[in-house]
Order: sequence, then structure tokens, then C-alpha cells
Amino acid sequence: MNFRYRVIWTVLLVAAVVGFNLPTFGADAPDFLVAPYVQLGNRPDFSDAMTLMWHAPDRDAAWAVEVKRPDGWQKMAPPRGSRLHYPDRDAFRIYTAQLRGYPPGSRFAYRVKRDNTVVFQASGQSRKGPGAPTRIAVMGDTGTGTPGQAAVAYRINEFQPDYAVILGDIAYSRGTVKNYYDWFYPPYNANKASMKDGGPLMRALPFVGVAGNHDISISWKSITDLDKIPDALAYFFFWDQPLNGPLGVVGPFTPKLAGSDAAKKRFLAAAGKRFPRMANFSFDYGNVHWLVLDSNPHVDWRDAKLRAWVAADLDAVPKGVWRMVAYHHAAFHSSSHHADALQMRALARLFEQKHVDVVFAGHVHEYERPHPIRYGAEGTITVDRSYDGVKDTTPNGVLYVTSGIGGQRGASEYLGGVAYRPKVYTNVYDTSQASYTAVEVNGARMELRQIGADGKIVDRFALTR
Ligand SMILES: [Fe+2]
Repeated sequence: MNFRYRVIWTVLLVAAVVGFNLPTFGADAPDFLVAPYVQLGNRPDFSDAMTLMWHAPDRDAAWAVEVKRPDGWQKMAPPRGSRLHYPDRDAFRIYTAQLRGYPPGSRFAYRVKRDNTVVFQASGQSRKGPGAPTRIAVMGDTGTGTPGQAAVAYRINEFQPDYAVILGDIAYSRGTVKNYYDWFYPPYNANKASMKDGGPLMRALPFVGVAGNHDISISWKSITDLDKIPDALAYFFFWDQPLNGPLGVVGPFTPKLAGSDAAKKRFLAAAGKRFPRMANFSFDYGNVHWLVLDSNPHVDWRDAKLRAWVAADLDAVPKGVWRMVAYHHAAFHSSSHHADALQMRALARLFEQKHVDVVFAGHVHEYERPHPIRYGAEGTITVDRSYDGVKDTTPNGVLYVTSGIGGQRGASEYLGGVAYRPKVYTNVYDTSQASYTAVEVNGARMELRQIGADGKIVDRFALTR
């Protein structure tokens, strides 16, 4: 074999071993890189519209979205596409369309056409209006590709929530385009429901994403070097969520970018006005108001302006509407892990003053429900031991739930005996398996169950008012 053939054979052998392949986005390319998924869009308040997004190979095509009416399929406004091209990755396109015109909480069928051929069909549900009973799936620390992650997705599909709130660390380990493709979308937007596949969730109901450290604060001092990780910060272009937060321009409390001008330009073109504002926002769904916060250390929640925004947001919530907060870094937990990341205690007193009902967090890979907590000015902690969530359903204090085990292995990583450090507030604690929180809100009563990957109830409690 002469030298030239030896080189060719060596290249082919190496290619076979390392899986080197260049997908060609020609006529036989898949229709989708990520199948259509529903988002709230930039709609903090009630609306008859939902956003639909999908990712497709980089080729020109005539896309259309239709929703079913009694008299046939009605075409929605033309989808908008944007093209993303990263080094070492084939260019791809993200499409966004709006699904409109259904009364609150009604089911509808929709379909997506490419070049006049139906390539996708599913059903969704319009956003529920004030007062409506709702079901919510809540969990954090999701995108790992573990069997537990898929099993939990399957359990959520059994629950059939109206929407899901993902408490950060959405896609490990850097929140990149690749991380989302490998670890996040597959189990939550699966074509079929099974313990191994997950479930067809995202095509039917909106997921709401909270920014965790692995999503937007992925390196030392929160500087994301886009030359080293060009497809980082996908949070800001894979999600379409309300933009009513206080941090609209890059400043001291927003993620910082490093890298060449070209890399920054590419990211900013993809993110648009969602960066940096989308890390903090609030929205209403049914009988619940949600405040979603960036708990990464680049935000100082002791800042007066930020606190004023939190206070005003909670003051505007009508009486009788539940007040829920979602952020990533659990402020009250009983693990030796992340024992120094308690910065969100800065808002504990404000939450209590503004009658927040439940604060959800992740970061610590556990399920935990402390006794209701009242947090004093000097950092003192008073707990309500009489609240048990069964006989006594009116907590005196705020309920802090850590549901940070949605995609984790459970005990293998956070063995109870290794990480468990009981505190004055410690009550229910579980790291035995991956799990999520199933929330059912019905008027003046809210029921919460922690459901394990095996389908069993890990914890159960209720609140009434
Ligand atoms: Fe985290």
C-alpha cells in the first residue's frame, strides 16, 4: 500500500473509531433537529396565544403552522426563522410561530407543514385563565441523560400537567446547544411515552426555564468565554419567556460575556432582546403567580432597586392568587453540598412580608421540604413545627421546597449518610431516587406530591387559605 492509500485508510479508520461524521442536510435530512415545542412566549399575563418553536436543518423551506377549527385547519401567521452557525457544528435554524385564538384552557390540535407536506402534528392547550384549577410539574437539575431523568419524564406524562417549571441546571454541563440536544430535549419531547424514552411533553405543554449556574454562570466569576464555548448560553435562544424583568441591559447583575467580537455578535444575534432580561421575570397561569429569579452570585438580591422590583411584583398579585417563587440555589437545605451557596436568604424576609406561599429551588441534588420558615433580621430561623401539611395546612412561614433531583441518579451521588446534615428546619429529606414535584392548585387549596422515578409518592402535603 503506498503512502497515499495508507493516509486515506488511516483517516477512514480514525473516522470510524471516533464517530466522525458530517451530516449532510440535503433532501434526505430529517425534518427536525428538535421537534416542535410550546413556550409561553413574552406573555407575562393571560393571553389566547402560545408560542411554538422548533429547530431544523439549514435549508430553505416553506414552513407553515395550522390549528384545527370546527370548520377545518386555519393557517397561523408565517413562522419566523433565524439561522445559527457555530464553529465545528452544522448551521441550523430555529423557527418560531404563534398559536392563537382558543378560549383559555381549551385543547386544540395543531400541525406543522414543510413545503406543503404535514411533517408534524400534536395537540396543545391554551393558557388557563384566572382562577382555573391547574397542575404543574416542578423540578430542577434535569439534563443529564440518566435513566432516572427519562423515568421522571414518563411520570410527569402520567400526571398530565398544564405546564412545567424547570428550576435550573437545565442541560448539563454547560447549557450549550449540544448539551440541550444530548440531554434535555430527548426525554421531554419524546415521540412516545415509556420509562426509557420519557414522554411527549414539550410539544403539548409549555416548559418554563429558570437559569441555574450550569445554564448561565458556567465559569469562574460568571464570565462565559464564547471563544472557548461558542454555543453556550442556549438558555437565551432556546426558550421564549416573559421579558418583564428588571435587568434589560448588561450590567453588574447580569451574566458577563468574554470572547471575540464575532463570537459575541453571533450569540447576541441569536438571543436578541432576551439577553440578559429573560433571567428574571414573572408570569400568571390559572390561580398562580410565579416569580422567576436568577440566583447566581452575579446578582446581589440585597440591592435596593432589585428588591423594589420584587416587592412591587408581589404587591400587584391579587388576593386569593397563590404566590410562588422559583430560583436555582436552595437557601434552606440539609446537605453538606452547596452549604455555602445560601445567598438567596437575602430575600427570605421580603418573601415572608409579601406572603409568598412556596419557594422552589434546585442546585442541591435532593428532595427536601423543611418546616415552614420565618427568617429574622439577624439571620435567626424560626420554624412552624405544627404544620404537617395534612391536619394543619396553614403554614406559619414560607415553605421552601428543594426539588433538585429531576435528572439525577439519586443515592449514588448524594448518599443520605454522606451529605445529610440536619438543621433546625429539617423535616422531609430524600435522595433515594430521581423525582419531581406534582402541584395541584384548586381555588384555596394547593396539594403537592413528590413523585419518584418509580412512581411512588416520596412526600405529600397541602396548603389551604
Ligand atoms: Fe446548580
